[in-house]
Amino acid sequence: MHSHPEAADTLIVGAQLYDGTGAPPVERDVAIRDGRIAAIGNLSNWLAEEVIEANGRALAPGFIDVHTHDDTHVIRSPQMLPKITQGVTTVIVGNCGISASPVSLKGDPPDPMNLLGERDAFQYPTFAAYVEAVNAARPAVNVGALIGHTALRSNQMDRLDRAATAKEIDGMRAQLEEALSNGALGLSSGLAYGSAFSAPTEEVMALAEPLAAAGALYTTHMRTEFDAILDAMDEAYRVGRHAHVPVVISHLKCAGPSNWGRSEEVLKSLEGARRLQPIGCDCYPYNRSSSTLDVKQVTGDIDITITWSEPHPEMAGKLIREIAAEWGVTQQEAGKRLQPAGAVYHNMSEDDVRRILSHPATMVGSDGLPNDPLPHPRLWGAFPRVLGHYVRDAGLLPLEEAVRKMTSLSARRFGLAQRGEVHIGYHADLVLFDPAKVRDAATFEKPQQAADGIDAVWVNGVLAYRDGAVTGERAGHFVARGAASKGDAHGAF
Ligand code: ZN
Ligand code: CU
Repeated sequence: MHSHPEAADTLIVGAQLYDGTGAPPVERDVAIRDGRIAAIGNLSNWLAEEVIEANGRALAPGFIDVHTHDDTHVIRSPQMLPKITQGVTTVIVGNCGISASPVSLKGDPPDPMNLLGERDAFQYPTFAAYVEAVNAARPAVNVGALIGHTALRSNQMDRLDRAATAKEIDGMRAQLEEALSNGALGLSSGLAYGSAFSAPTEEVMALAEPLAAAGALYTTHMRTEFDAILDAMDEAYRVGRHAHVPVVISHLKCAGPSNWGRSEEVLKSLEGARRLQPIGCDCYPYNRSSSTLDVKQVTGDIDITITWSEPHPEMAGKLIREIAAEWGVTQQEAGKRLQPAGAVYHNMSEDDVRRILSHPATMVGSDGLPNDPLPHPRLWGAFPRVLGHYVRDAGLLPLEEAVRKMTSLSARRFGLAQRGEVHIGYHADLVLFDPAKVRDAATFEKPQQAADGIDAVWVNGVLAYRDGAVTGERAGHFVARGAASKGDAHGAF
């Protein structure tokens, strides 16, 4: 017993602590001081400026959204409501080959870079300039960043429908190296998109070479998620082996009805590769995907909802087959007339989603699209949907395992040092939630709604959200790639 009481800035008492490692919960008090976890245990001898009674609710590390397109959103809307209301305390931007930096546009952003905003949103010719802008904006959440292959292509190439030359690859590499030296987490690709599809595997392999020395990783929206998915996975493994870097397969899914039911086969491939090299994946907890409208995917075999259309904004919320019927044209023709546009594709089977989500290698990432006027509900709902719908209501996985997929697994894979666990000395990113009440409220019809049951969120020790309202404090900042702790590098995968 101490004769003098210890002092904390904040004391959270009587919580069921989910520490992020996957361990079952234990009743604990947690003290926060100077932005860090100062103590964990029975802290009844502690004093604090603020005491929060958890009353047996769950306390967990703040959630890490490993798959976002929040690049410009963290600067333009730094309150980050869609994320802080879910208990997310760190977002990783720059996924799917598209990043806001380093970018120097020659005209309008090529598809799908337009998901990040229009031309005026791209103001960061170097990664250092982007880091400075993030910190100047003081976002409510921490921000880690990947560098997009497509973004680098658009900087260096006059047209994107061909392979890059050796000289262009050198130019891309120099830009990637600048970003890595300023703390970027790695390289992302979006090989399925027209703007990168012409890049041969060798182009990506060459570009990935500088990653290993920096301790960075490679993430990929694969060449295809349809029938040839196993080949696309092999391509991802090959890049990882060539560059000696960990690989994360983004939003792993079996897309398209002819592909439904193949998640077992896909996960078997992943497990086989994991015996040879570090590989993981992320996924979002929904059986519909979303991106820009790709006319090649308008085949008539699935429903596609239009979320925005530049020439026809009045069509947002309608199915493409309804629009085609209204216009008296084919769905293909309707798709062409709607461009550029955004879409939700009804293209997955629920069984596959569940099998992939519950696999131990899978992290949770929202893939939310904050610039979409009718965004897929994953933007506001991904994390509470896992905790409420899949853990509590469907019994798909234990709560401590779901928390691990949102915290420690994510922090270790992406190299976010001292985050993702409730551990003495770690950054005090925390979320207090009620496992009995947590629930996603966002739906496809009304997607912009805060979740229920997320009671308090701290970012770097500062209370950002409580009882359904933001506090106005925005304590997030750019987070550079950190050294993985000892023994993590492989164990995490
Ligand atoms: Zn993607
Ligand atoms: Cu994405």
